[in-house]
Amino acid sequence: MIPAAGLGTRFLPATKELPKELLPVLDRPVIQWAAEEAVASGADEIVLVLAEGKEALAAHLRPDPALERLLEERGKTAELEAVRRAGNLCRITVARQASPRGLGDAVLCAAGAVGDRTFLCMLPDDLSLAEPPVLRQLWDAHERLGTPILALMRVPSDQISRYGCAEIAESRGKLHRVSGVVEKPPAAEAKSDLAVMGRYVLTPAIFPALRETAPGALGEIQLTDAIGRLLATGEVWGVEFEGELLDVGTPAGWLATNMRLGRGHPEFQSAFASIDAGDA
Ligand code: G1P
Repeated sequence: MIPAAGLGTRFLPATKELPKELLPVLDRPVIQWAAEEAVASGADEIVLVLAEGKEALAAHLRPDPALERLLEERGKTAELEAVRRAGNLCRITVARQASPRGLGDAVLCAAGAVGDRTFLCMLPDDLSLAEPPVLRQLWDAHERLGTPILALMRVPSDQISRYGCAEIAESRGKLHRVSGVVEKPPAAEAKSDLAVMGRYVLTPAIFPALRETAPGALGEIQLTDAIGRLLATGEVWGVEFEGELLDVGTPAGWLATNMRLGRGHPEFQSAFASIDAGDA
């Protein structure tokens, strides 16, 4: 499940008309990076949660026969292959969020499409730079522990108020049993330096928990609060993943990620090398 119904306010004015998930990072939009990570992690279907006006996200991940025909006629083989790849990663299902009531509400909007399956949930605001991908590392932890799993990362104390924060009951290396989660706590009240990083394995029990969750931080229905409710009936674990998540959800993060990935990319590295050398 990829919740992608947000307004993209951190990215205005770029996102006044264009959904932030369609901004390109190097040669492909953010939503495609997210879908590729999901598929590389074992997903065979993606449920996109969309707001009205964001249908282009689903269209990007579905076949476009007219464009493919045109590229074929013009002999644009490489472009044709790129377009086919984007449109055939896996099955795409769309769920709708009627109004922006928060991440928890967005996840709840996908309840019908998910049914009684345990599922991976990812926020497309970060790209995974990890092998195996961060989502796959969470799924592996789920297969060992059988519980919901949160992606965790240690952050400096002055940054914890930007994230969900996990309280830890017990640790086994990089695996941590969670005893509480708080959405965006003030630094002085944070129970740890472990931030919840927008990738999750969730069980269908999350849906009734979300239905019982009242608006919390920022007046929104918070997924973090519903995960807290799951702790009353079972365990939740977190994994401090290997590798990195690169921010593409803010202008500064997006720019830095493009530069970081561009410098290591066969097609773009010479352009970056000339910028770095000062001749461009
Ligand atoms: C969301 C979650 C938060 C999490 C964060 C990760 O917040 O609510 O728990 O730590 O993503 O990026 P948002 O960034 O949408 O405000």
